[in-house]
Amino acid sequence: MADLLSTLSLRETEIPNRIAVSPMCQYSCKSDGLATDWHQVHLGSRAVGGAGIVMTEATAVEPRGRITPYDLGIWSDEHAAALEPITEFIRDQGSVPGIQLAHAGHKASKTRPWEGNVPKQPDEGGWEVLSPSPSAYPPFDGDRPALCKADADDIQGVIDAYRAASERSLEAGFEIAEVHAAHGYLLHEFLSPVTNRRTDNYGGSFENRTRLLREVVTAVRDVWPAEKPLFVRISGTDWLEVRESWNIEQSMRLADDLARLGVDLIDVSSGGLHPEQEAPGGPNFQVPLAERVRRGTDVAVGAVGGITEPQQADALVRNGRADIVLVGREFLRDPYFGLRAVGDLERDPDDIAEQWPVQYRRAVNK
Ligand code: FNR
Repeated sequence: MADLLSTLSLRETEIPNRIAVSPMCQYSCKSDGLATDWHQVHLGSRAVGGAGIVMTEATAVEPRGRITPYDLGIWSDEHAAALEPITEFIRDQGSVPGIQLAHAGHKASKTRPWEGNVPKQPDEGGWEVLSPSPSAYPPFDGDRPALCKADADDIQGVIDAYRAASERSLEAGFEIAEVHAAHGYLLHEFLSPVTNRRTDNYGGSFENRTRLLREVVTAVRDVWPAEKPLFVRISGTDWLEVRESWNIEQSMRLADDLARLGVDLIDVSSGGLHPEQEAPGGPNFQVPLAERVRRGTDVAVGAVGGITEPQQADALVRNGRADIVLVGREFLRDPYFGLRAVGDLERDPDDIAEQWPVQYRRAVNK
């Protein structure tokens, strides 16, 4: 069997293959953060389509942590109840449901991408957003939103919100929790010296800048059952070589710290913090970062970015560059990417049929 199609056990969770749906915002709630039929069909299709892990989009742990008013949220029991039928369906297909727990920090309160992705001021239906250091905010696009520097109560509030969101994720039936600490959102804003100019315990040294993430992870691990895996998505680098910024060496050190706190897999993305980033693109563009973390630490890693072909994904696992492969845009083009991988990588039609949904087996070429 191809390595991509082999199972992976993390704690007591068995993942049926190494293919994960990368978290992708759908901006498809009715401005209340509750999951809709869109989420059921969108995530459900990818479970039918053979993904080993179906990860939700960035799901806000508190209302002001949403990127737009239409983001998914998990800040009340009602939110958990709306997600429950989705996790049940994913599980029924043999896939593992995961939830990405997020806080957008100073990249919150925007319009949707198809509305321009521009900041929404409080008098336009937006809200005051949280930032480690307002003066350091690099406007990625458009005007600045109304910023509020995180004080001690805000910081404790974020930690508490992550803890409560994890408890609710469990009630909703998720098997994997992923803390979103990448792409210039709140936790990454604290990690990077570009956006964190604080002079208290949460800014300055590596230890101080990583403190909020470590406290969040500790709170989540505290309530997330010992038998269930915990992931953290990081930006492996800010792609800003010309200034003091977050880089791969710090990411490797962080990965070790997170593993000690009970994190099972580091999902290695990159960038998203500053408009002057010089990020590469194309096939496997972030894989070297994942590989560095995997080779330099004892923690499992996920590779993401520019992975579009089953053979390509299989080679990443086979050659020890990653433990799982997260696929984003290709899963938008082809919800059945997982079934395609089985078809491409298995030789025996019976083996293919076995890994396809029973309802679809007559479509396997024999
Ligand atoms: C994303 N991405 C993303 N990342 C994340 O951590 N949380 C999120 O909610 C989102 N939302 C999102 C929406 C859409 C429409 C896209 C296309 C992307 C990034 C995504 O998970 C992935 O890391 C990148 O797209 C790179 O992988 P691919 O697309 O090259 O496979």
